[in-house]
Amino acid sequence: MNLFTSTVGRKILMAVTGLLLIGFITVHLLGNLSIFWGADAINAYAKHLHDLGLLVWVFRLVMLCLFAIHITFGVQLYLENRAANSEDYAIQKTLVTTFSAKTMVFTGLIILAFLLYHLLHFTVQVTNPAISATNLPLVDGHLDVFSMVVLSFQKVFIAVIYIVALIALFLHLSHGLQSWVQTLGWSTGPSQDKVTAVGKILAIVYGLAYIAIPLFILARIVK
Ligand code: HEM
Repeated sequence: MNLFTSTVGRKILMAVTGLLLIGFITVHLLGNLSIFWGADAINAYAKHLHDLGLLVWVFRLVMLCLFAIHITFGVQLYLENRAANSEDYAIQKTLVTTFSAKTMVFTGLIILAFLLYHLLHFTVQVTNPAISATNLPLVDGHLDVFSMVVLSFQKVFIAVIYIVALIALFLHLSHGLQSWVQTLGWSTGPSQDKVTAVGKILAIVYGLAYIAIPLFILARIVK
């Protein structure tokens, strides 16, 4: 079996890269939640990350590869699947499927668009001049990430962009958090029901925790 060309091989690669991306999303969420502990907490977290120096670039390269593999094969498999289904349109199979499963490619593309915007917003800092390096003084020689995030989400349209994208992330995870277990052959029959339930509960936890950040700032609970 060729991992990069066979359907099964590409599904396995999607499951493994998806799992590693969930790992990133988990660490990123935990780091971002430190905003609820105040400016010092999130700024200290960001400082530790930046102090990793060269490792940050290794991490960025790995992330780029993971996203590239996950997105390329996701779109490829979706297009192949669609072409195969339209060929045997005479046999209309009604497979049991959920809204989140059916919309994986679309929620995935929304997350991709969000990610490009997110990098321009917080990493390159070009979409919101108020938080650019020239307008926000450094704190102890480091980025004031707390002010960057708070000043951003106090703007309704930025908070709304994030909340919509995070709803797409929730839907994507609702299916993704359980489908990798099945793809890797680690759950069958009755145990799949439990995996599905755990996956959905985890997706709700991730979704609510991420959305709480722009929402609490917009409501001026965090300021
Ligand atoms: C409320 C939601 C989020 C907040 C507040 C947030 C915040 C941030 C901040 C402040 C940075 C810049 C860190 C720094 O340079 O010190 C960052 C970078 C990043 N975020 Fe997020 N993020 C959120 C959601 C997400 C999501 C859902 C994803 C993935 C789908 C994501 C992926 C990334 C990536 C890949 C980087 C670049 C890391 C790097 O510069 O190496 N973020 N985020």
